[in-house]
Amino acid sequence: MKNIVVLISGSGSNLQALINAEAQGQLGGRIALVVSNRKAAYGLVRAAEANIPTLVRTLKEYKDSGKTREDYDRDLAAHIEATQAPDLIVLAGWMHILSPAFIDQFKGKIINLHPALPGELDGAHAIDRAYEEFKAGTRTRTGIMVHHVIPEVDKGEPILTKEIPCVAGDTLEMLEERIHAAEHQILPNAVRLVLQQGDEAL
Ligand code: GRF
Repeated sequence: MKNIVVLISGSGSNLQALINAEAQGQLGGRIALVVSNRKAAYGLVRAAEANIPTLVRTLKEYKDSGKTREDYDRDLAAHIEATQAPDLIVLAGWMHILSPAFIDQFKGKIINLHPALPGELDGAHAIDRAYEEFKAGTRTRTGIMVHHVIPEVDKGEPILTKEIPCVAGDTLEMLEERIHAAEHQILPNAVRLVLQQGDEAL
């Protein structure tokens, strides 16, 4: 059974989609650990309710003891490797830019969900920025993607993408809801696809 580790920072609605897909035998692997960099992340509740082990590691702990982000990333990568030997790491709303200290540990085995199309709205607040451009009349659609993670933020090779229309009269909340509903479909599909590709690559 393939081991999946999911990294979150917030509500975890995409983690929930992965949990649901696993329960339906649609994920192609098991979620062995959920890691959060925030104690208050509701996704930790979702993991606990699904009896999935969780780990909370905050950057604050590191900074308070005079350590760096690289120390954080290196230690977290070493812990995940030692305890899970994961086949895949999924960034599902992980709001922390991972350094090469983490990425190099899991070459080619980290994927990220980002609420924009390749090369369009890299970085944080992508939905807000898409909405502003829609209101300004310079954008009629946006999209989402799951991509391989490399050191350049949101720049790795896309795995799956989907266009999301902006609709006249949309509020930001309506666009967000349309995007999140699509994310909950695309992420489990991307995980299953990458794990199948991993098998074929063997
Ligand atoms: C998602 O929109 C994801 O694309 C972005 O952060 C959000 C996480 O939402 N990176 P949730 O925590 O999975 O509900």
